[in-house]
Amino acid sequence: MKTLVAYYSRTNITKKLALEIAEAVNADTEEIISKVNYDGKLGYVRAGKDGMSAKIIDLETLKYDPADYDLIYLGVPVWAGKAANPLISYIKQNEGKFSNVKFFATAGKSGFEGAFKQMEEFVGRSPLKTLALTTKEVKSGEYKNKLNSFLE
Ligand SMILES: Cc1cc2nc3c(=O)[nH]c(=O)nc-3n(C[C@H](O)[C@H](O)[C@H](O)COP(=O)(O)O)c2cc1C
Repeated sequence: MKTLVAYYSRTNITKKLALEIAEAVNADTEEIISKVNYDGKLGYVRAGKDGMSAKIIDLETLKYDPADYDLIYLGVPVWAGKAANPLISYIKQNEGKFSNVKFFATAGKSGFEGAFKQMEEFVGRSPLKTLALTTKEVKSGEYKNKLNSFLE
């Protein structure tokens, strides 16, 4: 089975999880890079503004075609109670190319439901599983049980 982990991460929290998932399931990894600069303080403000809408933004060239994969893990940080715009833009850019999907998200504390709902709407199908972890959980590494059942 061909598996892809596609993720966006602004401050490497979601990235940590994405790389661990990819290693565990022997997947290719696609780091989604935004052409909009969300770095630093100004970027944070911009991200907060864009996060409130489902604004589609431009992305750097992708390495892989999601149509080639049987299962795709989609990972994202929560922005303003929704999925960060680069990930939504990735799904939109690849509309109709997703077969089975699993969603994972990180957030300071809340907004997972809103992010997963939005991802489901854009993908056009329900995820097989979802994994929601707080930034603190990811940093501390206290998520092995949750991760194992997500990967099953
Ligand atoms: C613009 C912006 C909006 C955010 N909104 C939320 C939010 O609504 N709820 C929440 O719990 N965390 C929120 N966060 C915190 C991030 O979801 C959290 O720090 C996440 O783990 C960052 O992942 P990353 O390092 O992969 O970018 C927000 C962060 C940013 C930059």
